[in-house]
Amino acid sequence: MKMIYQQLLAFFVVIAFIILLLGFSFSRMSKAFVYDSTWQRLENYSDSLIQQSLIINKKDNSVSFNNLSLKTSEAMLDNQSAHFTIFSAKKQVLFPNDGISTNITKSDWNSIKNGRIVRKISNRSKKMNDGKTRPAMIEVVKPYYYNKKLVAAVVTGSFVSNLNSNVKRINRNLLVGLVVALVISMVVSLFLASRMNRRVAKLRSAAKQVANGNYDIQLPNRGNDEISQLIGDFNHMTSSLKEANQEIERQEERRQEFLADAAHEMRTPLTTISGILEGIRYDVIPTEARDKSFELMNSETQRLIRLVNDNLDYEKIRTNSIQLDRINFNAYNLITNVVEQLSNKAKDAGDELIIKSPKELPVYADYDRFSEIIINIVNNALQFTENGTVTIIGERGFNETIIRIADTGIGMSEEQKRNIFERYYKADASRRSGEYGESGLGLAIVHQLVKQHGGTISVQSTLDEGTTFIIVFPDEGHSKSNPDSENQAKDIKDGK
Ligand SMILES: Nc1ncnc2c1ncn2[C@@H]1O[C@H](COP(=O)(O)OP(=O)(O)OP(=O)(O)O)[C@@H](O)[C@H]1O
Ligand SMILES: [Mg+2]
Repeated sequence: MKMIYQQLLAFFVVIAFIILLLGFSFSRMSKAFVYDSTWQRLENYSDSLIQQSLIINKKDNSVSFNNLSLKTSEAMLDNQSAHFTIFSAKKQVLFPNDGISTNITKSDWNSIKNGRIVRKISNRSKKMNDGKTRPAMIEVVKPYYYNKKLVAAVVTGSFVSNLNSNVKRINRNLLVGLVVALVISMVVSLFLASRMNRRVAKLRSAAKQVANGNYDIQLPNRGNDEISQLIGDFNHMTSSLKEANQEIERQEERRQEFLADAAHEMRTPLTTISGILEGIRYDVIPTEARDKSFELMNSETQRLIRLVNDNLDYEKIRTNSIQLDRINFNAYNLITNVVEQLSNKAKDAGDELIIKSPKELPVYADYDRFSEIIINIVNNALQFTENGTVTIIGERGFNETIIRIADTGIGMSEEQKRNIFERYYKADASRRSGEYGESGLGLAIVHQLVKQHGGTISVQSTLDEGTTFIIVFPDEGHSKSNPDSENQAKDIKDGK
C-alpha cells in the first residue's frame, strides 16, 4: 500500500475513534442534562402546586386542598405536558383520580417517609387496570411535611417521548458537528500526508540522480521535522560524495601524470644507455670518449635504480611495513653532518647554509629515517633557492622537538602547497629531469615517515619569497596523534 494511503488510513482510524468516543460521551452527557433539568422542573411544579392549593386547618392540624386551584394548575401543567397526582399521608390518591395516576411503590413510599425525594423513569408504557395505556414517564415523588408530620406526597411526571425528542435534536446537532469535524480533519490530514509524500518523492528522485553520478544536487531544506533532518543528512551525504569524487578524480589525474612522468623519467636514461650500447656494438665511440660514455651509462642506471627504490620505499612506508628503530639522540650533530654533506651543492647554487640550534637538541626518532627527512627537505630548499639562504632551525617544544627549514627561494602557490605531499607531484612539470633526478617522490616519502613517527609536517610559503617546512617530532611516550589518522594527513595537506 502506498505511504499516503497508509497515513490516511492511520489518520482516519485515530480521528474516527476520537470522534466516536467524544460523540458517545457528549450524547450521554446531554441526555443526563436533559433528564436532570426535567426532574428539577417537575420538582418546581410540585412545590408551586402545594404552595397554591394546600390548606391547613390550624385548629386540628388537618389538611385539605383547594379543588379550584388544583384544577387550574392541572390545566396549566397539561399545557406543559406535565401531570401530577397528590397522595394523602395514608397513600390515598387525593387528586385526580383519573386512572392514569401513578401508583407509589412500596420502596418509593419508604423513601419519602424518610424525607427523600424520589426521581424515576418508567421507560416502558404500561397497560392500566381500566384498559388505558400509560406511556413511559419521567417522574418525581416529593413528600411534604407540616409540623414534622407527612401531610401529602406529590407525584409529578412528564412523558419521556417529549424528552427524547429534545435529546434527539441535541444528538442530531452533535452528529452534524462531528461529521463536519471528521471531514475537516480528513482534508487537513490529506494535505499533510500529501505534503510529506511530495517531499519523500523529491528525496527519491534526488537519490536516483546521485545513483546516476550527479553529486551536485542539494535539496532545499526548511523546517525541523524528521524529513527535514533526513534532507539535511542527504545534502551532507551528497557534498561528502562530491568531495570524495573530486578527490578520486584528482588522484586519477595524478596517476595519469605519474605514468607520463615515469615513462618520461625512464625513457630518457634508457634511451641514453641504449644509444651508448649501440655505439659500443658498432664500435663507433672514439676511445677517448669511452670513459665518459661508461660514466654516463652508470649515472643513468643509478637514476633508474633510485626511481625504482624510491617507489618501493614509499609503498613500504605507506603500508606500514618498515620497522622504525626509534632512539633518543642529539639532532644537532646530525644536522651539522647533513650541512657538511650538502655544502658542495649549496656552493653550486650560491646558497648559504645556516644552522640555528642549541648544541644539545634531543630528539626521539629513527636515526637514519630522521636524517633522510632532513636531507630531503634541505635538498629541496637548495634546489629551489639560488643565491639565497637556507636556515635549519632546531628548538625544543613542549614534549617535542621542532625542526624548521626555511629558504629564500622561489616559494609556492596555494595550489602547489596543497599538492606537494602527493606522490609524483612536481610543481614545475617542465623540470622533468635534472641534475638531482627529481621524481616527485621526496616529500611524499617524508610525509609518510613523519606520520610513522607520530609527528606532523606543515609548510608555509609565499611565491618568490621563500618556503618554510616545520616538522614536529614528539618525545618518547608523547605521540599526540595516531600515525594512521586521516585527519592528520588532511592537516598536513592543508598546511595546518
Ligand atoms: N623548498 C621548496 N621551494 C619551492 N618548491 C618546493 C620546495 N620543496 C618542494 N617544492 C616543490 O614540491 C615538489 C615536490 O617535491 P619533492 O621533493 O616531493 O619532489 P622533487 O624534489 O621534485 O623530486 P624528488 O625529491 O623525488 O627527487 C617539487 O617538485 C617542487 O615543485
Ligand atoms: Mg625533493
